[in-house]
Amino acid sequence: MNQILKYMYIVNYPTFEEELCLLEMRAVFGKIPDEKTLFSNIEFNPSNSPFIKTRLDIIHEKDTIEELLAEINKDTTVYDNFKLEYVRLNNNNNISYEERLDLIKKLSMNIIGTHNFKNPEFNFGVTKVDGKWLFGIDNKNNYEWHAHDNKPCSYSNSLGVKVAKAVVNIANNGLKEKTIIDPCCGVGTTIVEALDAGYQIEGYEINKHIAKNANINLEFYGFQPIVVNDDMHNIKKKYDSSIIDIPYGLFSHTSEDEQQDIINTARRISNKIILISFEEHDSMIAKAGFKIIDRCVVTKGRFKRFIVVAE
Ligand SMILES: C[S@@+](CC[C@H](N)C(=O)[O-])C[C@H]1O[C@@H](n2cnc3c(N)ncnc32)[C@H](O)[C@@H]1O
Repeated sequence: MNQILKYMYIVNYPTFEEELCLLEMRAVFGKIPDEKTLFSNIEFNPSNSPFIKTRLDIIHEKDTIEELLAEINKDTTVYDNFKLEYVRLNNNNNISYEERLDLIKKLSMNIIGTHNFKNPEFNFGVTKVDGKWLFGIDNKNNYEWHAHDNKPCSYSNSLGVKVAKAVVNIANNGLKEKTIIDPCCGVGTTIVEALDAGYQIEGYEINKHIAKNANINLEFYGFQPIVVNDDMHNIKKKYDSSIIDIPYGLFSHTSEDEQQDIINTARRISNKIILISFEEHDSMIAKAGFKIIDRCVVTKGRFKRFIVVAE
């Protein structure tokens, strides 16, 4: 197998989540996709994102199909149980169905090994972007995380799984060595997604019943029940970032002073904050000593969720 030249990511999202996807891409890759396609040298697991459909690990990039065939021919490795698919782009620049079929036939004949469409061991992908033929390993999002959509213990104001997955990536920029705290973690929506992605996260929840439910959720998905039932203001440790889905009036009768205290404590216990709220808290964020570095709005029906990143 040849070396990986770079990674190609294909993303997709409903219009109302576009801003969230772009915020996630800026945090993880430092740039946004062009027509839902992004090239990067950063290797990121597509299943850790709610928006990445696939990652193609590019091993050949050629101007013509003939050149691509010549490269594939040079590889003498036996790939038993391989599958080759055309990686479709999310724009109108895909080649026709007949061309795709013909291409797959031609290339497959030049890969040594047996085909296996149902249970492949090697997933190859080929596509054409900006006039170049790209060939590589196709890593699709497995979407297994949708199993977290229906938790044993849910909560009317819990975050959706997609928002939770995106915010953990935004919090640590996709880096496993960074530590995260969700100090008001409710039933543990972000904790489940962070642990599932292999990130370091801890959680606090002041309400005994909700904290117990968070731990029930964690154990249900095979994780340690790490949520601590305590007031976030008692946290002594310091983390790289905190994710705060701010308690608000409607559900938990949280006053503005209490919200300010929560953001102030976030400043003490973390270098960076991801604040999720139903109204803007820019002045509170500034008052706590944070500087806003990025933001987005997720609008669904009548609801607007503000997501602000500050350091
Ligand atoms: C908006 S909810 C969080 C929901 C959570 N993101 C989820 O998806 O389940 C805010 C939570 O903060 C908790 N909370 C409020 N004040 C707190 C404090 N001082 N320390 C820890 N938790 C607190 C509330 O009990 C509530 O469960």
